[in-house]
Amino acid sequence: MSTNRTQVDVESLVDVKNGIQAKRIFWDQQIYDLEIEQIFGKCWQFLTHDSLIPNPGDFTTGYMAEDEVIVTRQDDGSVKAFLNVCTHRGARLVAAEAGNARAFSCTYHGWSFGMDGALKVVPMEEELYRGSLDKSKFGLREIRVESYRGLYYGNFDAQAPSLNDYLGDVKFYLDIWMDINGGIELVGPPSRSLLNCNWKTPAENFVGDTYHVGWTHLASLMALGGELAAIGGNEAPPNEGLGMQVTSRFGHGFGVLWDAAPAVHAINSKAGTLYREWFASRKPKMVEKLGAKVGRIYGSHLNGTVFPNNSYLLGTNTFKLWVPRGPHQIEVFTWAIVEKEMPAELKNAVVSGMNSTFGSAGMLEADDSDNMETMTQNNRGRMTREGKLNSQLGLGFHKLDPDFPGVIGQSAIGETSYRGFYRAYKEIMGADNWKAILKLDPDAWKHELIGQ
Ligand code: FES
Ligand SMILES: [Fe+2]
Repeated sequence: MSTNRTQVDVESLVDVKNGIQAKRIFWDQQIYDLEIEQIFGKCWQFLTHDSLIPNPGDFTTGYMAEDEVIVTRQDDGSVKAFLNVCTHRGARLVAAEAGNARAFSCTYHGWSFGMDGALKVVPMEEELYRGSLDKSKFGLREIRVESYRGLYYGNFDAQAPSLNDYLGDVKFYLDIWMDINGGIELVGPPSRSLLNCNWKTPAENFVGDTYHVGWTHLASLMALGGELAAIGGNEAPPNEGLGMQVTSRFGHGFGVLWDAAPAVHAINSKAGTLYREWFASRKPKMVEKLGAKVGRIYGSHLNGTVFPNNSYLLGTNTFKLWVPRGPHQIEVFTWAIVEKEMPAELKNAVVSGMNSTFGSAGMLEADDSDNMETMTQNNRGRMTREGKLNSQLGLGFHKLDPDFPGVIGQSAIGETSYRGFYRAYKEIMGADNWKAILKLDPDAWKHELIGQ
């Protein structure tokens, strides 16, 4: 057991039954340190996508929480990931965000590593080390990597379930927008920005907060001029028929606003027109493949978080990684999502639409950022920090649906996915190891959420 687990009363942080979280989870350094060990030390974290490293020698660099990592395409087409740390004296090995290379040479003393992580060349090895250096012991520290439909994730824990099992029920929903003709692409390099908030505020927002859309984003939705402006001010009757929300065993969530993928974009704009035409042409095939009930998800506005810190929106086509930088700051990495078979004109329109909505300087990003920063900063106050947070919206209105895996929130606007996110958070924060989590009844989480 780690030292930190003896110092944090995990049980007191989340009350699943009543939809309550302690405010301390947003500011407490000890809780953050425990998250780094228990959450980021054990869960799958997004690294890159096939489309960003298509050729042998291609690489990207990034982060798994506070650890810097390099992801490389090998000559045999496989993908490996390593700590981006020279094994000599610990300098950062690769400074570039992406590129193509045959080897990586450290800027400090020139040790050089192959794309497979092996230490190949040590300057003046013969003359200085005189045969005493065993280069085979100083390769880069390799990280476990697995992929799902071209998305690569890394995990520090050899005991963790496969990525496939970890994604579980949520694969069904990922498939609807990823398992399409030609697949999807991420457009990089990612834009990067710093936000003074805890990593969980955007992760919980994207996991299933439809409640804030018509309120926080009122002015932006009206300025953008799509059909979603109609929910501005939360005045339109929002519930029946608007959509659904889903949560799954390890905290991943997914939300749908029916038929609304293009509904952020102005109805008569070029991007809006191209986007609407695209869905009109592709959707019949999806309905034929999946049936009317499930196929309707394609072309709907979608939101989701892959626990812990990887989120996306389909409609504004943004793909996010919320990288923790201490309890009170994150670095946001933002890519655009396009379908590979979209014509170039539409891809360009989708990318610029993403930049003007959820890019670093996007309108909707700016709307959210204010709330996310104050949620973190306010909760540091001496009295405020002892309080509780409420995620009770829709409590008791869950169901299981034979056509849709996971636990379903019966209205688009609810906090089912919040509760699912924090249920998993508590379970993983408090567990001895993955073995202990995987020993539990695989359906127990559903009963815990539904309360039966
Ligand atoms: S720290 Fe990298 S070569 Fe010395
Ligand atoms: Fe938002």
